Parts: sequence; C-alpha cells; structure tokens
Amino acid sequence: MRKPFIAGNWKMFKNIKEAKEFSEKFLKLYVPSDVQVAICAPYTQLSTLVESFKGTAIKVGAQNMHYEESGAFTGEISANMLKEIGVDYCIIGHSERRQYFAETDETVNKKLKKAFEYNILPILCVGEKLEERDAGKEFDVVKAQVIKALDRIPEASIEKLTIAYEPVWAIGTGRNATPEQANEMCGFIRSVIAELYSQETADKVIIQYGGSVKPSNITELMNMYEIDGALVGGASLNPTDFIEIVNF
Ligand code: PGA
Repeated sequence: MRKPFIAGNWKMFKNIKEAKEFSEKFLKLYVPSDVQVAICAPYTQLSTLVESFKGTAIKVGAQNMHYEESGAFTGEISANMLKEIGVDYCIIGHSERRQYFAETDETVNKKLKKAFEYNILPILCVGEKLEERDAGKEFDVVKAQVIKALDRIPEASIEKLTIAYEPVWAIGTGRNATPEQANEMCGFIRSVIAELYSQETADKVIIQYGGSVKPSNITELMNMYEIDGALVGGASLNPTDFIEIVNF
C-alpha cells in the first residue's frame, strides 16, 4: 500500500515570522494520521520549520538544489547543505524552474542523482503545457520528461521517488485538471516506470497531482485510484486550508 503524501509548496512566499505563525496554527489543528505531510519552503525558512516540526511526523522540503557537490556556483545550495539542517525532501524540476530558470531534463536528472546520494527524497515534477495538451501530445511530453529525468538512476532509488504530475495550465490558474484527467496521467506515469524498471517498483512510487488543489477538490482527486497525494501551492499558505487538504 502506498502512503498518501500531501506536500505544500510555498514558492517565494512567507518570511521567518510568518513561517512560525503558520507552524503554530498548523500544529494546533494537525492530528497525526497515516497521511505523510511535508512543507517545501524557501531556504531561509527551512531551519525554522525543521525546529517547529521536531518530534512530529511533518517533514520539511526545499524547492530546488544544485547538482554539484560544492564549487564556484554563486547563489546555489547543495544537497549536503540541505541535509545538514535536517531537510528531508526537495522539489526537483518544478515547471516554474523549467520556465524561468533554465532547468532542463538533463539538470533535473543530475539533481535527482545527487539528491538520492544524500538521501534527500526528491519530488520530481513533470507536466505538459496547454498547447501540448491541445495538440494531443501530453502523454508523449510527460513520458519523455520521466525517461530523461530517470536516466541511469538505479531501481533501488526509484522506490524512494515521488513524482508530481503538474499540468502547467493548472498551476496557479484556479483551473485544476479533472480527477479523470489527473488519474489517467498518473496511471500512465506508473506504466512508464513499470516499463523502465518493473511493475513491483512502479507500484511503490508515490504519484501526486498538483495544480490548483484546494479543500473543495482534494477529496475527489484522492478518491482516484492512481493519485497518491497532492503537491499544493497557493492553498498550502493558509494553515486552515492546508489542514483541510491534509485531512481529505
Ligand atoms: P497551485 O501550485 O496549487 O498554486 O496551483 C501548485 C504547484 O505549483 O506546485
């Protein structure tokens, strides 16, 4: 059985004070359950959140990392640095990084390898743009992203992988994919993993849906067989909304 996994993606929102306020409110509402919860925050809030969630099952994630060990990469953060402060997860290949920061399938692949090396659990984001869906190419696009991202990554690591299917047209637009569309693509991604590795391994991979997830649509999404969780942007900023999503 795959454990449901709800992760928040705060993007470039909140300062340390606001992160503390969030965690205080969230912890008052949070009841431990079999749902894995993580919050992926900006770098400067990570230590604060690790401290706030100490002794709970709530995990903390970053939103990006560099693929090199260390070096002259001004402005970058390594997997080692994240591990040192107690970060467990890292989003890799979010569409906003692909769009605005020249993230490619090749850098995504290198980052995944480095994350696994440091036992940072990656949340790999894939998803098609609107014009690609309109052209009927969504399955080809997502398949290519998955294959390139996982190039030469050993099967033993794949069991620790989370994949977030995030159609670009659904992110921050208020227009979520229908549960059927999301379920179909999550199932397709699982079949790609099964082809690359084995059905047994594919059955262990957590596959989330992301894109305008909110309290009002989480239940129908989570009722779909292939959807194991959600990557939540806007609605993860508010502790009341996020707890409703966690308690789908
Ligand atoms: P959204 O963002 O929930 O605000 O659409 C999701 C994401 O970008 O991960």
